[in-house]
Amino acid sequence: MATTEDITLHRGLSGVYFDRTETTFIDGKEGKLLYRGYNIHDLAGVSNFEETSYLLMYGELPTGAQLADFDARLKANRNIPSEVMGIIHAVKDDHPMSVLRTAVSAMSAFDPESEDNSSEATLRKGIRLTSQVPTIVMAHHNIRQGKEPVPPSETLSHAANFLYMMDGEEPTPETAALMDTDFVLHADHGSNASAFTARAVAGTNADLHDAVTAGIGALSGPSHGGAAENVMTMALEIGEAENAEQYVKDLLAGGGRVMGFGHRVYRAEDPRARHLREGVRKLSEEKGEPKWYGILESVQNAMAPYGRRGIHVNVDFFAGVIYYLNGIPHDLFVPIFAVGRIPGWTVQVIEQFEHNILIRPLLQYAGPEERSYKPITDR
Ligand SMILES: CC(C)(COP(=O)(O)OP(=O)(O)OC[C@H]1O[C@@H](n2cnc3c(N)ncnc32)[C@H](O)[C@@H]1OP(=O)(O)O)[C@@H](O)C(=O)NCCC(=O)NCCS
Repeated sequence: MATTEDITLHRGLSGVYFDRTETTFIDGKEGKLLYRGYNIHDLAGVSNFEETSYLLMYGELPTGAQLADFDARLKANRNIPSEVMGIIHAVKDDHPMSVLRTAVSAMSAFDPESEDNSSEATLRKGIRLTSQVPTIVMAHHNIRQGKEPVPPSETLSHAANFLYMMDGEEPTPETAALMDTDFVLHADHGSNASAFTARAVAGTNADLHDAVTAGIGALSGPSHGGAAENVMTMALEIGEAENAEQYVKDLLAGGGRVMGFGHRVYRAEDPRARHLREGVRKLSEEKGEPKWYGILESVQNAMAPYGRRGIHVNVDFFAGVIYYLNGIPHDLFVPIFAVGRIPGWTVQVIEQFEHNILIRPLLQYAGPEERSYKPITDR
């Protein structure tokens, strides 16, 4: 039976390396994030989602011609089959993340290479999914309101098209740029819970649609993708900046957690946060609602003592207010995260396939000692 003394448990696999990656480097102590060797601070607001996706998926920055070709492929793959639209109609009352999970699962039936696990086919499928996922999210957004989906644009950028499909209005260049930065910041992030889930699924030699469907399920939880939605709920409850300090005190005194703070890997500030912090500041001024930036600033000040324990602001702290100020409903906040993350899930699944191994850790048994079965009449 269990030899308790010989076993070291790594609950949550915290601090455990289970494989190698060439995609994303994270230094949690320094608060540093690199995509394929490029610092996130050099990409955010300078590169765009199309270029960053190419970088993640192919390993190098594209030339002008390579980027134009990649962009054309993304634009050409934005439509989704009418059968999947029908499925979205059938499940329209479910949470948008559940609808997205169901629709991505269904998309495999219409993908010409769904069962081909070669790196080349998986990359092509990943490019198609990168284009299709925004269409699914926004089609559902309209369908659940009894409206017709807005067909995707054939010309707008990935970020601008996403916002355009919400209501048929083209976003301003500034709004599209902020959305684009948000997608760049979310494109990959090492072995987070959803990428690990995707890798575990790929480890069985299941295909990309299986892995992404499972990844979406993992992302939907509030400890992972759900935080941006919860931050906005918190900001609305706080209402005014002067209430923030007391709100945070009461929350922590009751054993609660301040959403948008803390991270399994970062012990310094999440490097992605600074790019969205500036975005919130500008956007809340532009929209004539500076109080939202004020509320977030006051929450940050109230949480400052927690910095000593390595609990700092994370990327989700600012994202929610940006979406809110752009008129995006709260329950689309996590799907937006998924829209940005498809390239990351794709490359991690490809890496997993390229030197695949079944992911199968152990559980320490802590149940009863071996005992005799009793017939039901003797119990
Ligand atoms: C992300 C998260 C799950 C990581 O947690 P973790 O690495 O497993 O760390 P733990 O849950 O073990 O927390 C360690 C300690 O920090 C505290 N802590 C962590 N995050 C906290 C937060 N957001 N607010 C207050 N306290 C927090 C815990 O209460 C715990 O304290 P204790 O040791 O006194 O019990 C956690 O920080 C969290 O729940 N954050 C809020 C949700 C969020 O923003 N998620 C998005 C992540 S990008």
